[in-house]
Amino acid sequence: MKQAQIGLIGLAVMGANLARNIASKGFDIVVYNRTAEKTQAFIKEYGNEHLSGELQDLATFVASIESPRKIIIMVQAGKPVDAVIEDLLPYLEKDDCIIDCGNSYYRDTIRRETYLAPKGIRFMGCGVSGGEEWALNGPSIMPGGSVADYVKLSPIFSAIAARDFNGSACVTHIGVGASGHFVKMVHNGIEYAVMQIMAEAYDTLRKLYNLSAPEIADIFETYSQGKLGSYLFDISLKVLRKEDEFQDGGSLVDYILDRAGQKGTGKWTAIDALERNVCVPTIAEAVFARNISASKKLRGELAPTFTKVSAKNLPPLSEFIPLLENGLYASILSAYAQGYDLIIQASTTEWWDVNLAEISRIWEGGCIIRAEILSFLHQAFLDAPAGVSHLFAIPEVMNAFQTTISDWHKVTSIIIEHGIAVPTITSSLSYFESITDDKHPANYLQGLRDFFGAHTYERTDREGTFHTQWSE
Ligand SMILES: NC(=O)c1ccc[n+]([C@@H]2O[C@H](COP(=O)([O-])OP(=O)(O)OC[C@H]3O[C@@H](n4cnc5c(N)ncnc54)[C@H](OP(=O)(O)O)[C@@H]3O)[C@@H](O)[C@H]2O)c1
Repeated sequence: MKQAQIGLIGLAVMGANLARNIASKGFDIVVYNRTAEKTQAFIKEYGNEHLSGELQDLATFVASIESPRKIIIMVQAGKPVDAVIEDLLPYLEKDDCIIDCGNSYYRDTIRRETYLAPKGIRFMGCGVSGGEEWALNGPSIMPGGSVADYVKLSPIFSAIAARDFNGSACVTHIGVGASGHFVKMVHNGIEYAVMQIMAEAYDTLRKLYNLSAPEIADIFETYSQGKLGSYLFDISLKVLRKEDEFQDGGSLVDYILDRAGQKGTGKWTAIDALERNVCVPTIAEAVFARNISASKKLRGELAPTFTKVSAKNLPPLSEFIPLLENGLYASILSAYAQGYDLIIQASTTEWWDVNLAEISRIWEGGCIIRAEILSFLHQAFLDAPAGVSHLFAIPEVMNAFQTTISDWHKVTSIIIEHGIAVPTITSSLSYFESITDDKHPANYLQGLRDFFGAHTYERTDREGTFHTQWSE
């Protein structure tokens, strides 16, 4: 019997579509799912000469893959991944490779690689972005692990991945170890930030200018045709223009409860940054914004107790639209810079040697944050001096801020003056102002700390550590 070139476990939306994508590129793939009925139904609908999986037990599934085996796991992140690995182990042989393509926490990936290595089993943590549609039509793929394993998987990854703006595959070897899942985690953190920044723009336009959802869509459409062009702006137009099926003539978005869900990747990004002493305030604020949105009952109780500021001295909408566009662009660029900084810091301490030009390139297609801005960042990193330590240290990037900073200040102050909460727009701005300022008030903090706790301080005019007896 002809053996499959690769196996895949997990036939929910992502796994099913990834398997179909792989088969459509002419690779022979065999699939397996814990619940056998799902496998049967899937194969009945999509099975073909390249896609098989009628087999019910794991032993037969593993035996039907050519050796050394490549087996993709696409199941729910967390314990299910460990469960699948344990189930597989009795049937695996030396040099078989498990590729975890789910949204696993990168520290779990380190643990699993360490657990499997002494058993002779290869393990790759591989980020896959784009959701179900792009798993089928071409996701952005972020594989971590050894170069040798990447080389073996590369023909399949390259065939199934999305295309970047120049037509190359949206896949690259991110680095060794858990770097692939780390970069996917930060991708999702940036996604949280960008979506919240856009949500704040939507909120501003409806509250300050009383615009309807379709009217906001018209403004976002002009943005999407310029430097803010992105998948998220494209799908915004569809979300904002969708009519509700229950309320005659209303917009569906107006009937969606304002309580956001989350699966945890944004929180992981913020926590990891805190543990590494890296600043990602916009990503953290985006997580907090979802948390506050979830406090629907409390917000409902507090809202009537506080009178909101009424609109005054508002510029005409025609003047506000370009200000907001520049404010959004700079806020989003600042959020990217924070995510990239986290990757740079982790890559240095974990010895991953991640290439940020390549990461920008593979995010140009297939993934949720794909956007025009990534083409700019890709080129900026290619042009950057060797060993550049921060996105803001690249002259083209700083120039982009120089041309937008005045509008960014203006639009932020107008919004704040009218009492609208824009935590990600303001934190993006504060991050930029703060990291480009060589005079912080930390000298004052150090004085206070030394006063109450004898924590000592350094001086600007001489070497050493000092403590002062502050009270007479
Ligand atoms: N959905 C998205 O848009 C998206 C985008 C990017 C990445 N991801 C990631 O991709 C992975 C798959 O996502 P998904 O949405 O397709 O599926 P999911 O809902 O996260 O997981 C369902 C799959 O996991 C299997 N499973 C759960 N517990 C199991 C266990 N203990 N042992 C064996 N199998 C188990 C289920 O098998 P049964 O059928 O037997 O229950 C089913 O195949 C996740 O890590 C997810 O975070 C999802």
